[in-house]
Amino acid sequence: MIADWINVADAEREGEAKLEQGPRDYFAGGAGDELTLRENVAAWGHWRLRPRVLQDVREVSTATEVLGKPAEMPVLVAPVAYQRMAHAEAESGMAAGAAAAGTVMCLSTLSTTRPAEVAAAAPGGRHWFQLYSFKDSGVTRALMDEAIDAGFEAVVVTADAPPGGNRERDRRNGFTLPKELGTPSLTAATGGEEALTIEQTFALMNHALTWRDVESLASECTVPVFVKGLLTAEDAVLALDHGAAGVVVSNHGGRQLDRSLATADALPEIAEALGGRATLLVDGGIRRGIDVATALALGADAVLVGRPALWGLAAGGREGVTAVLELLREELELTLGLCGCTSPAELSAAHVQRAPITSVYSV
Ligand code: FNR
Ligand code: LAC
Repeated sequence: MIADWINVADAEREGEAKLEQGPRDYFAGGAGDELTLRENVAAWGHWRLRPRVLQDVREVSTATEVLGKPAEMPVLVAPVAYQRMAHAEAESGMAAGAAAAGTVMCLSTLSTTRPAEVAAAAPGGRHWFQLYSFKDSGVTRALMDEAIDAGFEAVVVTADAPPGGNRERDRRNGFTLPKELGTPSLTAATGGEEALTIEQTFALMNHALTWRDVESLASECTVPVFVKGLLTAEDAVLALDHGAAGVVVSNHGGRQLDRSLATADALPEIAEALGGRATLLVDGGIRRGIDVATALALGADAVLVGRPALWGLAAGGREGVTAVLELLREELELTLGLCGCTSPAELSAAHVQRAPITSVYSV
């Protein structure tokens, strides 16, 4: 029960227990040997905090600004496809749950709910739109325009797919999307709703994209554009050079290139290369408020969570989503206070250091 959750792992157990094996493995799984999937979580724990004491922490707040507007916490909801497989409330529940927690929800192009409907379900909420380009560019354009018309505040271009990663769980399960799922982008791209495999959905997308496409999108788009799914300083600088307002350091939750860098390990060089010139976001393996604090200390402005929000949705619809976000917010608030900080902005590189190598391998 939601009221009994004391951490995100409780939501994970309950959310996963409600799902059939096909959707559960699709949501939980990663690519190949799932090394990056596991390392995303572990790598945050390879940092240690350097708390400062006696700082007057009576008033601690996790409130922050993202893209110049307020959010109750520097934890946003990552774009996750096909949410109707997790819960009947689907993306509307996710959006309402995020809005109730006072944070941003990013909607996937592979959403099972139209952007306008999501906006209507969470009127006070903040929404961003994640962009996958289909070979039929009209599909992408129509959805993006609908999102922007409905007040979505940013477009997040995912750069680490297609092609889709080697999802061995899905292949072993012979997993196909349920025919009745009702994914507007897929319906528009295929003209009907066949029971597609994940591989087939990625085959519908444009594999020819380059930085030039980011540049033309950024120059035409009336809202800020982010590039999501990069892991190097080189690509982060290219994103800015091509007009992006920010980047999301991400390996797609370990679902794309197995053995790519864990995001906690990629973040420092990217923070250094950007030097505060753009909004810097990171996702992958964030399961604790301490992970959020570590990411902020390493230079991120905010983090995103994918699976934690999804587990909340699967377990309890919109209320489950709010509960997971609230758990992360409370943990972050406590971490801030114990580190001698009263706001997220006070965390700096001086609050973290690498764990001694012996403890990384023995704890
Ligand atoms: C994703 N992710 C994702 N990313 C994206 O840009 N578009 C998408 O449609 C999806 N779909 C998707 C489905 C599922 C089931 C998962 C788990 C993830 C990646 C997502 O935005 C994010 O990068 C990761 O989920 C972050 O890792 P954690 O928080 O799940 O560890
Ligand atoms: C995934 C896609 C759809 O990770 O982004 O499954």
